Amino acid sequence: MQYDEALLKEYYAPAADDITLDDIDLGHMPSHVSIIMDGNGRWAQARGLDRSQGHVAGVDSLRETVTTCVRLGIDVLSVYAFSTENWRRPKREVDLLMHLFATTLLKELPLFSQENVRLRFLGDLTALPKKTYDVFQEGLEKTKDHTGMIFALAVNYGSRAEITHACQTLAERVASGDLKPSDITQDLISNELYTGGLPDPELLIRTSGELRLSNYLLWQLAYTEFYVTEKFWPDFDRWEFLRAIRAFQGRNRRFGGVVNS
Ligand code: IPE
Ligand code: IPE
Ligand code: MG
Repeated sequence: MQYDEALLKEYYAPAADDITLDDIDLGHMPSHVSIIMDGNGRWAQARGLDRSQGHVAGVDSLRETVTTCVRLGIDVLSVYAFSTENWRRPKREVDLLMHLFATTLLKELPLFSQENVRLRFLGDLTALPKKTYDVFQEGLEKTKDHTGMIFALAVNYGSRAEITHACQTLAERVASGDLKPSDITQDLISNELYTGGLPDPELLIRTSGELRLSNYLLWQLAYTEFYVTEKFWPDFDRWEFLRAIRAFQGRNRRFGGVVNS
């Protein structure tokens, strides 16, 4: 996607000590970047605050990251906001998160219009509280004609549930005679996932140092490059994003083959 060079330079001025825009190749950006936004609770606890304040602070990082990706001309940004396993958290924390998703999204709709960002959701939204569900539908409706970056928010998302659901849909089509088992291809499976139609992520970022996927995009990450930063999500900023891009651009992606040197 196109980026505006003047806007981008202004956005990244003044430079950080260890990295500048010149350290990355703007012509070789990952088309889809995905982020496991982790560490809100530890960020808050380290400051003697309630975990909920970590989630509130995390919203600022997310807003900045959306803008960063638009400025850099990224095609797709997806972020993991709430997993199918996160319902195990105390009700108070779950309620706060559901409330935060709704209020933040409503507040940020003008930003999506200004930046031409199209919203998409990954996950089973039917299990969400009505208010959150309704705001999400409003977000989809209000951004449906936007032609810029796709911003995909994974809420009540679990990769195993997603794959199971895809299997059920395809099995129903086979049972009805619409498909033969041998018609099932990798593309057909990909299309039945919540990410259907999106390119697979080229870069996955996880904050707070955890080295696991936590049931995120198990199918889609088959050949994705990983970047794990020790920073907690509320401390993630445009500079850390640039460091992740620099690391990505330094990788030797072989896709199982042999690289000519
Ligand atoms: C990520 O931060 C946000 C969500 C999972 C909703 P956490 O809440 O997992 O923060 P930590 O990992 O407990 O520090
Ligand atoms: C993964 O983080 C889910 C999201 C970021 C939404 P968790 O904090 O829930 O993951 P675990 O429990 O450490 O694996
Ligand atoms: Mg966590």
